[in-house]
Amino acid sequence: MYFEWKDSYGVNIAEIDKQHKKLFEIGGKISDLVLAKDGYDHYDEIMVVLEELKEYTLKHFRYEEMLMEKYGFEGLDQHKIEHMFLVKKLERMKNEDIDANQEETLLNLINFVSDWIAGHILKTDMGYKEFFNAKGIK
Ligand SMILES: [Fe+2]
Ligand SMILES: [Fe+2]
Repeated sequence: MYFEWKDSYGVNIAEIDKQHKKLFEIGGKISDLVLAKDGYDHYDEIMVVLEELKEYTLKHFRYEEMLMEKYGFEGLDQHKIEHMFLVKKLERMKNEDIDANQEETLLNLINFVSDWIAGHILKTDMGYKEFFNAKGIK
């Protein structure tokens, strides 16, 4: 499966790994709904999961930023900008008229969600791993 968690994706911080796993789970739910070829319209369910993704993303970003701030991580500003960009994009996706343009918007949605996960969790977030690990944060 596409959104399958692997231990190597971890940053060795229990709470953050838990939150990242949850984000993978939500991403998996979205991709299952979008890619379901069962002849049903999953629009309403997709909107519910998208809202869940937004809420959880906001919560997760706040947590990460709080931790980076608390320990004085030097990459905080850059990291915050990336978070802000993802939230804006998520909001834009939610406001798009998915119903009117389903096929294309849903493919964009999948691309975005996998970008957010592959691009941010697996690259940008890895940038604080050593820093936090060296400080002994679990
Ligand atoms: Fe993260
Ligand atoms: Fe992050």
